[in-house]
Amino acid sequence: MEPNLMNRFNEYLLEVLNSDIPYYQEIISYLNEHKGKQIRSRLSLLCARLGGKLNGKSYRAALIVEILHTASLLHDDIVDRSKERRGVPSVNEKWGNKVALLSGDIISLKALLLALSNEDYDIFKIYVKAVEKIVEGELLQMKKSVSLNTDEETYFRIIEAKTAAFFSAACKAGALSTFTHEDQIEQLSLFGMYIGIAFQMKDDLFGFGHENVGKPIDNDF
Ligand code: FPP
Ligand code: MG
Repeated sequence: MEPNLMNRFNEYLLEVLNSDIPYYQEIISYLNEHKGKQIRSRLSLLCARLGGKLNGKSYRAALIVEILHTASLLHDDIVDRSKERRGVPSVNEKWGNKVALLSGDIISLKALLLALSNEDYDIFKIYVKAVEKIVEGELLQMKKSVSLNTDEETYFRIIEAKTAAFFSAACKAGALSTFTHEDQIEQLSLFGMYIGIAFQMKDDLFGFGHENVGKPIDNDF
């Protein structure tokens, strides 16, 4: 991956998220200062590049997943009552639940509008379906964490929905921007899903270790 590719991506990201609403600018700067690994958007761009030269739609596919993922973390930290994210206080901890919730709403709508205003209806549908799956996964996890009877099949159902859905959507949307063959796009969608499953298993294993991962590790028990 060229070093300046992600720099360009992050410049676009700030442009897309720009707005002068109170609180909001502060939160965007805070999120920008404490970025994550941006693994979903990197995967999206790499899948796009497998099929040819990156274009505007390739960048939009990657931007949308990054923003939706960030929104989902703002909401997730409220749901999990988590005080820390990426080694610093979470947005809910710093500004409160209301601001964190509404900021998550605004940025996710901005991401979806980016697809709609460019008539990327295929990408729009992929991401809306992924968000639906993620929220379903969260609800299933909530139910299971109360009943304490999660079996292996349910565990995989949960992580496929709550994490792998975004990975898969990111790879598929990126691929759609450059590939024309349906089966190649589907293969990359599946590739993303498996990477997402592996990623979440690793994330869950942090709960059994002592490594400092920049966020509370015992929330999901
Ligand atoms: C992290 O899980 C969080 C998710 C996988 C997604 C949570 C999604 C929502 C709360 C709703 C989605 C909303 C929008 C706007 C898209 P985790 O708690 O296992 O991981 P963590 O340890 O990083 O907190
Ligand atoms: Mg959480």
